[in-house]
Amino acid sequence: MKMKSLKDLLAEQLKDLYSAENQLVKALPKMAKAAENEQLRHGFEQHLEQTRHQVERIEKICERLDITPKGKKCTAMVGLITEGKELMSEDADADVLDAGLIAAAQKVEHYEIASYGSARTWAEQLGLREAVSLLEETLNEEKETDQKLSHLATEMINEHAKHGEDGDGEPSGRQHRELGQEREHEDGQRHSGAMQQHDGRKSEPEMHEAGR
Ligand SMILES: [Fe+2]
Ligand SMILES: [Fe+2]
Repeated sequence: MKMKSLKDLLAEQLKDLYSAENQLVKALPKMAKAAENEQLRHGFEQHLEQTRHQVERIEKICERLDITPKGKKCTAMVGLITEGKELMSEDADADVLDAGLIAAAQKVEHYEIASYGSARTWAEQLGLREAVSLLEETLNEEKETDQKLSHLATEMINEHAKHGEDGDGEPSGRQHRELGQEREHEDGQRHSGAMQQHDGRKSEPEMHEAGR
C-alpha cells in the first residue's frame, strides 16, 4: 500500500501494534511460567490481562477509522520475543534468569512506548480524539509496567542475582530466594511486595511525572 498521508502511516502503525500485542498475548504466559519471583510472575500475569484489553482498544480504534487491523507482522516484536526465548533456554540461576526476564520485558515496553507515543501524536495531529484517548490509556499502562519492572529489578531481583556467584554458602534457586525473602522481611518493608506496593498510592506521583 502506498502511504500518502499521516492517516495511512497511523493505520500501518496500528496494524503493527496489533501484531505486536497479539504476539505478546502468546509470549507473556511463557515469561510468567519462567519467572521464579512471585511478584515478577504476578506482574507478567497482570500485564497479560492488560495486553488483552490493549488488543481490544486497537480493534476499537480500527473499527472507527475503517482500518483492518490484521495482515501485518511486527518484525521488531518477533526479534524481541526471540531474544527472550533464547534467554529462557539458557541454563541460569533462577535469580539471574529473573533479572534477564525483566530486561527482556523492559525492551518490549520501551518499544511499545515509542510506537504508542508516535501513534498518539499522529492521532492528535489528525484530530482523532477518541483514538487519542484510547492510545493514551494503553501508553500509560505500558509506562506504568516499565516502572514496575524497574522497581522490581532495583529493589529485589538484581540484589539476589549479584550474590549468586559469591560462594557465600547460600543455596541457589528457589531455596535461595526464600532465604532472600526472609532477609527482606527482616530489614523492614523496603523490599517486600515491590510490585504490589507500586500498585498502591505510592505510585501515583511517580506515574504522573513519567507519564508525560
Ligand atoms: Fe502492550
Ligand atoms: Fe506492554
